[in-house]
Amino acid sequence: MEHRNPTSELIQNHRSIRRFKADPVPDEMLEDIIHSAQWAPTSHNVQAYTIISVTDPDVRNSLEKWCGPQRYVGSAPVFLVFTADFHKHEIISREQGTAFEMAESENVLVGAVDAALAAQNAFITAKSYGLGGVMIGGIRNRPYDVARLLDLPTYTFPVMGMCLGFPEHLPGQKPRFPLSGVRHENKYEEQRIRSALPVFETSTRNYYENRPSNPKSQSWAEQMASYLAAPRRPQMTDFLKDQGFTLK
Ligand SMILES: Cc1cc2nc3c(=O)[nH]c(=O)nc-3n(C[C@H](O)[C@H](O)[C@H](O)COP(=O)(O)O)c2cc1C
Repeated sequence: MEHRNPTSELIQNHRSIRRFKADPVPDEMLEDIIHSAQWAPTSHNVQAYTIISVTDPDVRNSLEKWCGPQRYVGSAPVFLVFTADFHKHEIISREQGTAFEMAESENVLVGAVDAALAAQNAFITAKSYGLGGVMIGGIRNRPYDVARLLDLPTYTFPVMGMCLGFPEHLPGQKPRFPLSGVRHENKYEEQRIRSALPVFETSTRNYYENRPSNPKSQSWAEQMASYLAAPRRPQMTDFLKDQGFTLK
């Protein structure tokens, strides 16, 4: 028997949406989406995130430029910034007169994971309302400028942005790595990766060659090799340190 249900189907029907209808997202809908974000599990109940909904057109314009430029950052009906946030914890520690130990890189992981779990909860809830969207790592391209523009205090950093709106059309789904290469048992089974790679090579090459918009002759392997051949955002290390995460 096939094990699928409406929630798993909703999740497995995922594709990033980058073109939106002009229809606004009702505020109560957005409120419910952000409420869902809050119901993600959170490391040690730290709830180490804050979600900023950017509605000011000037701020959106700057973010559109700095994130790429990425057109949909400026034009999507909703743009959220998920920030890792230990600022509120700093306030508490000061008030309680206790030490505030933020040096470990562990805290960066905790904040990033918390924000990402909240973001995915928001994303799925948005989808359940018929919305679609795309997450935006470009928010970390110019972290100092973003922090200044959004008044981000110390002990916070932007993790990702998220565009949301009603989809203008549904693009095809990008293939995923074969399940047989993702699900291992009891230990890391290298052979599963080796067997899955050529299968994925074929499915991704087919996908990129046959997709209606921006077709290209490339596979996932080629894409990843070139993506990982150069540093991505070296500025993040200094930025995190300046935000109080000294990465000890
Ligand atoms: C944390 C994160 C950051 C991302 N940043 C961007 C981005 O800046 N711009 C963009 O167009 N897509 C971005 N994406 C979307 C990915 O490119 C996309 O999820 C991936 O190519 C798989 O395609 P799919 O989501 O359509 O299945 C991001 C996704 C994640 C999870």
